[in-house]
Amino acid sequence: MTAHQLILKQRAELLAVLCGGGNAEPLDCVLDLLLACEVLVWEDYLSIRVAEKPLCSNVRHLLDVVYDKGEDACSLFLAAMNQVIPEEQKAGLCFGKECAVVDKNRPDTATLTLLADRPVLVRKLRDNIDRALNALLTTGCFTIKDCDAVQLPVYTPSQQVRRLLDQVRFKGETAAKTLLQYLEQTETTRPNPEDKENHLSANCLLYQKKLRSSVAAQSHSLSTYGGTGRFSLDDIYTDSLLEVIDGSGETLTLGLEDVVGPLGTLNEEADTILVSGEAGSGKSTLLQRLHLLWAREALLTNTFLLFPFSCRKLNAEQRELSLKELLFLHCCWPDRGQDEVFQFILDHPNLALFTFDGLDEFKQGFTDEERHCCPTKQVPIPVLLFNLLQGTLMKGVMKVATSRPQAVGPSLKRYLRKEVLLKGFSPGGIDCFVKKHHSDPAMARRVIESLQANTGLLSLCHIPVFCWIVTKCHQELLGGQDVITQTITDVYLLVLQHFFQRKSPQSQGVLGKAWLEEHLDTVLKLGQLALEGLEASCYVFSGYELQRNGLTEKEVSQGFLIYCNDLSVTDCKRYEFLHITLQCFFAALYVVLNRNIDRSAVSRLFHPQYRQLSGLSQRCLGHCIDSSVEELESHVTETPNLQITAQFVSGLLSQRHHDLLLECCPIAVRERKVKQVVKSLSKGMQRHFKSIPRPVEGEKKSMHAMPSFVWLIKCIYEMQDNSIAQDTMAKLDVEHLKLTYCNIGPVECTALAYVLKYLRNPVGLQLDNNSVGDVGAEQLLPCLHICHSLYLRNNNISDEGIRKLLEKGMKCENFQKIALFNNNLTDACTQHFALLLKSKQNFLSLRLGNNNITSQGAEQLAEGLSYNQSLQFLGLWGNRIGDRGAEALAAALKNSTTLIWLSLVDNGVGSAGACALAKLISQGKTLEQLWLNKNCISREGVECLIEALKMNSSVQEVWLRGNNLSPEEEEELSKQESRLIF
Ligand SMILES: Nc1ncnc2c1ncn2[C@@H]1O[C@H](COP(=O)(O)OP(=O)(O)O)[C@@H](O)[C@H]1O
Ligand SMILES: [Mg+2]
Repeated sequence: MTAHQLILKQRAELLAVLCGGGNAEPLDCVLDLLLACEVLVWEDYLSIRVAEKPLCSNVRHLLDVVYDKGEDACSLFLAAMNQVIPEEQKAGLCFGKECAVVDKNRPDTATLTLLADRPVLVRKLRDNIDRALNALLTTGCFTIKDCDAVQLPVYTPSQQVRRLLDQVRFKGETAAKTLLQYLEQTETTRPNPEDKENHLSANCLLYQKKLRSSVAAQSHSLSTYGGTGRFSLDDIYTDSLLEVIDGSGETLTLGLEDVVGPLGTLNEEADTILVSGEAGSGKSTLLQRLHLLWAREALLTNTFLLFPFSCRKLNAEQRELSLKELLFLHCCWPDRGQDEVFQFILDHPNLALFTFDGLDEFKQGFTDEERHCCPTKQVPIPVLLFNLLQGTLMKGVMKVATSRPQAVGPSLKRYLRKEVLLKGFSPGGIDCFVKKHHSDPAMARRVIESLQANTGLLSLCHIPVFCWIVTKCHQELLGGQDVITQTITDVYLLVLQHFFQRKSPQSQGVLGKAWLEEHLDTVLKLGQLALEGLEASCYVFSGYELQRNGLTEKEVSQGFLIYCNDLSVTDCKRYEFLHITLQCFFAALYVVLNRNIDRSAVSRLFHPQYRQLSGLSQRCLGHCIDSSVEELESHVTETPNLQITAQFVSGLLSQRHHDLLLECCPIAVRERKVKQVVKSLSKGMQRHFKSIPRPVEGEKKSMHAMPSFVWLIKCIYEMQDNSIAQDTMAKLDVEHLKLTYCNIGPVECTALAYVLKYLRNPVGLQLDNNSVGDVGAEQLLPCLHICHSLYLRNNNISDEGIRKLLEKGMKCENFQKIALFNNNLTDACTQHFALLLKSKQNFLSLRLGNNNITSQGAEQLAEGLSYNQSLQFLGLWGNRIGDRGAEALAAALKNSTTLIWLSLVDNGVGSAGACALAKLISQGKTLEQLWLNKNCISREGVECLIEALKMNSSVQEVWLRGNNLSPEEEEELSKQESRLIF
């Protein structure tokens, strides 16, 4: 196909790619290239890039202009597109033959040189527009007004460069020459990052060495193993699942080395990368691993200096600091040549990397209201941090920040280069971790076996911090508890028991039944510290604060508190809880066990918006409470912690732990608190149910769950009380429950199934775009009987998960639809679908798009289909079933009296397949839509379809876009049969 034809045929797709997301950058890059190779002349450019018109109309105009310029222009345009758009967006687009760019002579005027070098100049000048403008200003080529017009803050740096170039062109040859001269000069004077070693001064190298060794020392071992000295990070680090959603909405899996890399970049102009994940998913550990590998020169080798920061520690910084002070005081002090080292950082932003761990633990929520760009001016820490993240300060320095997802609002999202989602351990990762933890293979095997026998616990182990506790407390776990460990409260009670046992005088012996009562005093003191800390966003405590709470040295050394691992220059020891979740657990213990806590404490946890700082926390943690921080703002960081605490409170008040709490807390007080929790949960749920809109006629009554819905469900699960689950669900009356993009992993699936199984009427459960996985799929089984449809698109499910799901699904009368687009399914699962189709004669819809099913899988499916007389929708878009698969399906379906919709888009189906499908058309009476886009069907195949359509009146449309036909053929064939769509 000629380039001309390709542009016409793919016009819609090209338009979509260039306008996608409203970002003009791809169009501008294409224009730069086309100007450089003289496909476009300046007048064309001015007529195309009209700022007042919508982007799409600019793009349409460009397509028209290029099309009118003939074949060569079209192929150069396609080559430019190929160069500019990211790989992920190229799927399905064809760019034609490689075209050789004719080598032209260097242009003879400066103005033309700027045009010919435009794509390179945009990249080069992006980071030093100021200096270029300065050069133009001092030579009188530009006025201040010109400079201001270039640097309007609405423009991205690249757009600013283009405006600068346009203005230079407008000013004429002298301005162009000045700019070229300036560029030549900087080329010779600016150090090139490639040969940085040659230009580095001894002081900078010395500083790097010092920084490397302190970062290495700090990241060498994991804090949760602190003190025991048994594990270095190398021994225990286990890869976890990292994902990123690219510009086209596809999920990509990343390796650690891709975190600071181009994969998944959404905003080229931004340089903050966010790693987000729930509490305990391993964010801090991941950063620690990055730090260690950098210090050893094993990763991030292009990064000359890496500065690690912890937001929880920055909270304690009361002084106003300049950037220079922040780097040197909080990370590493240069022994020599301070100014020189700092100047080096300023001059080489691309060689530095800053990391900020735990943005969610920073007291103040992100705002971009106060701009600050001076590296030497002292400002409050929040101003410094937020301007670094935005890129106002130190543009060009790559930043990696971690946070829990809830704490990242839209105002910060605008400044993100990309968001990497940390999903915890895979099933294989759990095994690997347990094996690393237990050097005795027999013990590792026992732990793994016990996990496999308790899938509720196994699902918890996807979160590394739970996995760590479960593995650490294996003795308590395997030693036969009264209560089967299932909930996170169970898991944290294990760790509590474990630490007390370790330090108890009769350490070999098992703790007595009343172990909690024995340690009640310690628990309450730690609990008070924990709760007050949470309420004030305070996670680091001084020795003085511990003393004030009455904690003795012995209690401090129990293991729940650890020393802060700190690079900064401070003179006093500071402590933190082993993990934030442990702080939440102690806070929960305090709420449950303290007889004197005020009556509203429980309900305050469930409705944090009504919370007031308690008098106590103001007294004890005075330094943590910054009076300038508005109450409301700090809620952003506290809510997730208070929610985890509430979850623990629910768990501790569960009837299952009644005996343990018996002696610690009077029954009447406990009962009152139970009632409060149940009431709060029920009220919370009611609020959700009330938000369900009345159904529009003809539509299903559906509820789109808010994130706190999942939290409430998890609290109900912690209580492990069937009647509470039953009572709550009795009031929910919907036909469709939508929980897409809700961070649903295996743990959430367990809780959901526990509660949803009590629904009165069948629902469609939509869990698209979560991380259910095979373990999560198995956790859903208890509620499968009440699901008429299950939507699990994009959930990392493989054949094994499907096997278990279908085994149960086959026996569920209500279960009629399943959607599994974009998972990891192969031919190994199709036999289970075949069995399902054979045995369930009321099954309606099967969607398996974007998996790895080949002709073999299609043949197996066909086997099942030939016995089925109920299926109405079958989707296999984006697999590889080929002609053979299409033939098998057609043969199996030709007697179907129910099939309405069939999609075999993008499956490598050729004319033979199309002719087989023609029989389905000629014999079938029900089929309405047949989708065959993006295959390799040629004229012969389409003619078969036309013949068949002559005998069929039910089919409404046959889609054939993107097959092997010329535009002329398409036109001719569609005249023959109007139901064909090209
Ligand atoms: N990749 C990993 N390999 C081994 N253990 C891990 C890993 N990630 C987390 N852990 C364990 O889980 C605990 C909590 O992880 P952490 O990184 O503090 O989570 P987060 O910062 O997301 O709350 C760690 O102290 C460690 O014991
Ligand atoms: Mg952390």
